Amino acid sequence: MGFILINIFFGIIIVVSLVILWFVWPPDSPWSPWWVVRTRQIREGLRIAKVTKKDIVYDLGSGDGRVPIIAAREFGGRGVGIEIDYIRHLTAWLKVRLYNLKDKVTLKRGNFFDYNISDATVVFVYLIPRVLEKLKPKVFRELKKGTKIISYKYKFEIREKDKLKLVRSDTKNQIHLYKIT
Ligand SMILES: C[S@@+](CC[C@H](N)C(=O)[O-])C[C@H]1O[C@@H](n2cnc3c(N)ncnc32)[C@H](O)[C@@H]1O
Repeated sequence: MGFILINIFFGIIIVVSLVILWFVWPPDSPWSPWWVVRTRQIREGLRIAKVTKKDIVYDLGSGDGRVPIIAAREFGGRGVGIEIDYIRHLTAWLKVRLYNLKDKVTLKRGNFFDYNISDATVVFVYLIPRVLEKLKPKVFRELKKGTKIISYKYKFEIREKDKLKLVRSDTKNQIHLYKIT
């Protein structure tokens, strides 16, 4: 009986610790909390980026796929989501099938630094500043001039040499729109 109680006690400690970690871990690791952007804010971001059916919208760290799904369902564009976490990727995969968007949304499971994103016309990111900084050389190398970047919540730190211009900041929705120059 004592042995069972001890096991239950440690089981509870582990579960509570995992739940706490889920909420506080930074969102650039596979073990990060499942932070998501509200659909209203995604729509607003895609609207200010003027997404149309001609666009290819990437979400780098796409979680449950809500950004590429909204880009395809509501704006008619093509969506591409890259997500490192298996469970989030699987959730997105199921949602894409549920909405019958297989032809319009592509999901890739893995590290977005390992994928070429040069066909993107719009890139959506919800990543902490440290990761945005790390991402800069990749976007400057791969994205074409004029490609739009929508960053939710966090801003890119722009230096003089950077081929990036802040076009608009919607502080209410925490949406920052950039363009590759
Ligand atoms: C803050 S969440 C945003 C999720 C989604 N974009 C949204 O707006 O709802 C960041 C996501 O990026 C993923 N992520 C972080 N670093 C990554 C990387 N190097 N490659 C792929 N996914 C990554 C995390 O697993 C997490 O799901």
